[in-house]
Amino acid sequence: MSTSPHDFSNRELKISDKQQALRDGIAPYASQLGGLIRALHWVQHKFGYINPEHYVDIADVFNLSVAEVRGVVSFYHDFRTSPPPKHTIRICQAEACQAQGVRALTEAVEERLNTKMNSQTSDGLIELKAVYCLGLCSLGPSMEINGELIAKATVKDLERVKR
Ligand code: FES
Repeated sequence: MSTSPHDFSNRELKISDKQQALRDGIAPYASQLGGLIRALHWVQHKFGYINPEHYVDIADVFNLSVAEVRGVVSFYHDFRTSPPPKHTIRICQAEACQAQGVRALTEAVEERLNTKMNSQTSDGLIELKAVYCLGLCSLGPSMEINGELIAKATVKDLERVKR
């Protein structure tokens, strides 16, 4: 008797190497207080983002529901659920930078990149994100390009982004 290609009853569910690496990586956190957050940071550091396809594995290791894992990931804005773009530009929108002209800088950057804050350029290469303090409060407006902090930022600093 032949079996349908969609009949999985006699097959073991196969875990991919990536899934196994993820499970092995987060397992040590499962018994720790606050371990889920640490595990999610580990996943993001290791893979660049938290793929929603892996919520099942994370939930299984932590003995949680998929909805609980999804809820934690979506609550913390630092967690990404899609691959990171090539470049990330973060502009401080907090009070001290507001007093030092960040609104005008933000508008100029949005216009230059033809995108809005907290979104990506149409080619998907650059992400523009708002942050609330980069620790350069007296040297605003402050910006960060690919992890490099820039004091007294201007739109000319975008030249550091090489597409
Ligand atoms: S308020 Fe902008 S860096 Fe602190």
